[in-house]
Amino acid sequence: MNKINKYGVIILDFGSQYTQLIARRIREQNVFSEIMPSETPLSEILIHEPKGLILSGGPSSVFQSEAPIFDKTLLEADIPIMGICYGLQLLAHHYGGEVESTGHGEYGFATISVNNHKGILSGVPEKSKVWMSHMDRVTKMPEGWEILAQSSNNVVAVMANHNQTRVATQFHPEVVHTESGKQILNNFLFSIAKCEKNWTPGNFIDEQVELIRNKVGNNRVLVGVSGGVDSTVVAALLHKALGDKSIAVLIDHGLLRKNEALDCVQALKDGLGVNIHCYDESDIFLSKLEKIIDPEKKRKIIGNQFIYSFDRISNELGEIEFLAQGTLYPDLIESGVSKGKSAHVIKSHHNVGGLPADMNFKLIEPLSELFKDEVRQVGQELGLPDDLINRHPFPGPGLAVRIIGDITKDRIQTLQEADKIFMDILYDDGIYNDIWQAFSVLIPVQTVGVMGDQRTYENLLAIRAVTSTDGMTADWFRMPPDTLSKISNCIVNSVRGINRVVYDITSKPPGTIEWE
Ligand code: XMP
Repeated sequence: MNKINKYGVIILDFGSQYTQLIARRIREQNVFSEIMPSETPLSEILIHEPKGLILSGGPSSVFQSEAPIFDKTLLEADIPIMGICYGLQLLAHHYGGEVESTGHGEYGFATISVNNHKGILSGVPEKSKVWMSHMDRVTKMPEGWEILAQSSNNVVAVMANHNQTRVATQFHPEVVHTESGKQILNNFLFSIAKCEKNWTPGNFIDEQVELIRNKVGNNRVLVGVSGGVDSTVVAALLHKALGDKSIAVLIDHGLLRKNEALDCVQALKDGLGVNIHCYDESDIFLSKLEKIIDPEKKRKIIGNQFIYSFDRISNELGEIEFLAQGTLYPDLIESGVSKGKSAHVIKSHHNVGGLPADMNFKLIEPLSELFKDEVRQVGQELGLPDDLINRHPFPGPGLAVRIIGDITKDRIQTLQEADKIFMDILYDDGIYNDIWQAFSVLIPVQTVGVMGDQRTYENLLAIRAVTSTDGMTADWFRMPPDTLSKISNCIVNSVRGINRVVYDITSKPPGTIEWE
């Protein structure tokens, strides 16, 4: 097989909140892009033979002594470079222009006027809205450079050297508010850097299959499957690479959604022939959770039992050298693993299922270069069903944190029934995919109702649906009233033990997505 050079663009990260977004926008064009720390030496960059470099935005000022360092020799490299925001000022400053701190910046929407439509601004209208954010501004152009567009007060909005091997925007083309952002990025990718559209799910799968085969040889790999999209895709990928030498294990703690364990096992086993084993460990999990009310204790008990069960099962399966898990690219970036100094460490890197670090496995993380939407595309290409691929995120402790108070088999069943109705109606009404996460919560409060001529005194159920991009913040979903009405009627009429349904309209912050 011909090895493709997958590298399109390397993005040097100077600390902007939008750096990940630049990478995603580029990959949406089927061009591979990877974020590297700003201080990455040119020699390391050149190993990957990128077609272009992007210098990201960032909170610093080019004259600050603590401005992020970068390898200045890359300015001489024979690779097209695009600077964005801070990246523009960096280019201006280092090529001999002048950057001034004016004390007042431009943030949010601005309108740019284009003086020259060539190269990076080809196809961009005379006037267009952009998403601006800068404090400093360029006051003198470097020699051999020209201004291609300006925003209000003559702020340099786009500049380039004469042959357009160095281009820069003062605004964020990666943000959707910038009307011609996609056009501008595409101009850089395809006209200037001459990138190829070779980052496709098919190419990714071929490359990973080869890598996995080379790494694993004749050994075996264990894959922990949770029912979620990431671990399911890992299991499908490992199966494609290794056949039965890959052993997928799903531990059913009894706190999954109705039919979830079965659906996942069926899709993998019957659909793709994956060597998967489902272990019903629900009795042991539920016995340990008996009478436990405190959410943190619930989490701890489930986390620990998960490790005991996994340990026992992997021992039963005999000598296995590798463990595969569904770590994604944002997990690595957010934990600072691949970002270096400019990274804002947001959360630590959790591995799937919270497995202990001292387990005797070598790790395989085949999705660690991918964003979530790319994982979904790979899953689709591997033949997994759409409803599994587009599933909402589901917490490891499962329904345990959606049953407030005591967890009993009865209460789990009540919640599963109600939640299934809720999900089915979201699918039927065509809004499931507009929602980041939707679920039901069983509340240990009884209220009075009336069914026919009978007075009822039953449980309260809350339903929640939120929109979000990463789960860090969220807004409650504006659910159509007809859908709400259908959900409430259907649940109260058909789920024994529930006589009232409420809709949670709390955003995050101040609320959290889960109730516990
Ligand atoms: P919160 O409730 O913190 O949830 O706003 C943010 C996202 O994290 C998920 N979540 C968890 N996932 N184990 C997990 O694997 C947990 O203990 C856990 N708690 C919350 C939640 O479903 C949402 O997607």
